Amino acid sequence: MDNLLNQIAGYKNEISAFTAADEKQVEEFRIKWLGTKGIVKATMGEMKNVAPEQKKEAGQILNEFKQFAEARYEELKASATGAVQTGFSIDISLPGDTMPLGSRHPVTLMRNRIVSIFQRLGFAVAEGPEIEDDWHNFGALNLPAHHPARDMQDTFYIQQNPDWVLRTHTSSVQIREMEKGKLPIRMLMPGRVYRNETVSARSHCFFHQVEGLYIDENVSFADLKQTLYFFVKEMYGKDVKVRFRPSYFPFTEPSAEMDVTCFICGGSGCNICKKTGWVEILGCGMVHPNVLSNCGIDPNKYTGFAFGMGIERPAMLKYGVNDLRLFSENDVRFLKQFTSAI
Ligand code: DAH
Repeated sequence: MDNLLNQIAGYKNEISAFTAADEKQVEEFRIKWLGTKGIVKATMGEMKNVAPEQKKEAGQILNEFKQFAEARYEELKASATGAVQTGFSIDISLPGDTMPLGSRHPVTLMRNRIVSIFQRLGFAVAEGPEIEDDWHNFGALNLPAHHPARDMQDTFYIQQNPDWVLRTHTSSVQIREMEKGKLPIRMLMPGRVYRNETVSARSHCFFHQVEGLYIDENVSFADLKQTLYFFVKEMYGKDVKVRFRPSYFPFTEPSAEMDVTCFICGGSGCNICKKTGWVEILGCGMVHPNVLSNCGIDPNKYTGFAFGMGIERPAMLKYGVNDLRLFSENDVRFLKQFTSAI
């Protein structure tokens, strides 16, 4: 047994010291040590000379020797084919490299917050295409060709087909939902919109909106106000005050804009609210009868309200972001600061 141990120790030294310059020498190594007439096989044959009480121990030693030779062969093979640079063995017990966890985009976080509040009131979510035809983006929304209110939004037209635009607002999705002809409708429509504006800290050529639409029999302006009151309370807290200002949108009549007391300064006046104490957060109104009939809905039977709000502005206020461009630059140093479960 001692003889055998000495012999194996010598073999191991020889195996460790062996280097192969090319694949031919690796093959020579294999034949010499691992071949059918190789040294490993011959050494294994020594088992028969070991005393019975030592057979178990000898078996383990011999097996370990065989694995040693095989491992060295794999190493030589890998380095000769260029897969591994040096003869280091691989430590499979080393912990793996963890994948860095991502985080949700702040616009997604704000979108999810807005959506989840309205979902609790029974609003379902719908989406529509970002490339729209003139009818869905303008015509059906009571903005016929040459209507002066088309200039309220600077539109990107698709050069190949002047009937196509990059949608300027999510109101186009209202039309798509109404055209489906399934009533009542209680929908929330988040998405990206495009306007031909100079990119700066305060404006961008694309941003995000959430549109809301509720159509049923006997829907009134009071329903609109209560729905939005609930939203503001959930979103900005119960102490925030709300005011409606009369406004104009071609697709609603009457139309209003809704302000909330500035949640930065609490209403006393700061840069965000331009010292007025109020921040505008959305446009809204009762869906214009022309819009209903454009979509095949009887305006004498059904009424409805609609509203639309931007996502970036509330996100900037909530997270203290002072430059709109940060949202679209994909700088990981910016993005990784946002963590949330929703
Ligand atoms: N589409 C308007 C915009 O982009 C926002 C808006 C105002 C949507 C009033 C509405 C609404 O649904 O009723 O400026």
